[in-house]
Amino acid sequence: MSKEKTYLVTGGAGFIGSNYIKFLFETYPEVKVVNLDKLTYAGNPENLKSVENRSGYYFVKGDICDRVLVADVFRKYSPDYVINFAAESHVDRSIGDPDDFIKTDIYGVYSLLENCRKYGIERFVQISTDEVYGSIDKGSFSETDTFNPSSPYAASKTGGDRLAFSYFVTYDLPVVITRASNNYGPNQYPEKLIPLFITNAMDDKKLPLYGDGKNVRDWLYVEDHCKGVEYVLQNGKNGEAYNIAGNCEKQNIEITKKILELTGQSDKLIEYVKDRAGHDRRYSLDDSKIAKLGWQPEYDFEEAMRKTVQWYQENEEWWRKIKSGEYLEYYKEHYGQDL
Ligand code: NAD
Ligand code: TYD
Repeated sequence: MSKEKTYLVTGGAGFIGSNYIKFLFETYPEVKVVNLDKLTYAGNPENLKSVENRSGYYFVKGDICDRVLVADVFRKYSPDYVINFAAESHVDRSIGDPDDFIKTDIYGVYSLLENCRKYGIERFVQISTDEVYGSIDKGSFSETDTFNPSSPYAASKTGGDRLAFSYFVTYDLPVVITRASNNYGPNQYPEKLIPLFITNAMDDKKLPLYGDGKNVRDWLYVEDHCKGVEYVLQNGKNGEAYNIAGNCEKQNIEITKKILELTGQSDKLIEYVKDRAGHDRRYSLDDSKIAKLGWQPEYDFEEAMRKTVQWYQENEEWWRKIKSGEYLEYYKEHYGQDL
């Protein structure tokens, strides 16, 4: 159906965006994909090695906050769909310095929306997050629940989420919003819980578990998330938000023990450390709305975790370059500037 469409994917060199681009080419071999990415520390062209030379793939290095550059991209490629994955995405970094979060996750969304309005598009998908709802002790959040973001990351993502909605209400822009659970899988930057702990365990390093290790996250395999985003793009209703859950809630200590088991390591590597400031206790999504639309995750946790651990075992070069700082040198050589 979408085989001749042009997708503008922002943040396509990051974890989920790069998986989504590869999924698009596997699903629609004739599709055109423009990847607009600033290549921050989290953006890595190596994530797209398998598609970078194929026809239909175009890479633009640039900032979504740069409205003039975004306008040039719209004029040059006339995208049918815009899927906004670009964001500063790590909660701990947002606690350390929120500045780039406010810029990219709010102003960046505005810059994209303004250009969509000016040049016209068929659909704008704002990739939001379950973190906009905040923490919930019992039960699950549905799409109409109140926003209660706790971290500067979650608050800035809430700003982007609501700005996108306002462009639907005010300007009739065809916007849909997705709010997914915690993702895991190949090419995730090794600062997030799962890739950090897998790669530390492979190197006999400690696994720093925050607080009592009993915070709960709902885990969604990245391939399922990509399919969910595409499903909403094709079947969602303008102005609506859709939760994309993994239906797989686990305490962090359970995730940690699974990683130790799959890497053949012992509990001795676990190190309880100072809790994260404002650490949300539990995330939980009610996904009945997207289920009614006809979508549900396919992966089973055990299988997806095995695949994930195996990927990091088979792709040591990828994460070692990042963890050792070698990627920073590569970046400077290729782009003539520091990250
Ligand atoms: P990531 O940090 O791995 O990748 C972000 C990408 O955006 C990078 O390639 C980076 O270079 C790019 N980027 C950052 N600022 C930019 C800017 N100003 N202009 C252009 N490009 C820029 O993030 P991810 O984990 O792949 O998350 C992707 C999206 O999904 C984000 O919007 C995030 O909020 C959302 N999300 C993530 C999760 C998760 O578990 N990772 C869950 C729900 C929602
Ligand atoms: P993270 O991967 O940073 O995702 P998010 O904060 O967006 O949910 O963290 C997932 C959970 O793991 C969260 O409860 C914080 C916890 N965590 C640790 O215990 N240790 C760590 O080193 C990291 C990065 C996270």
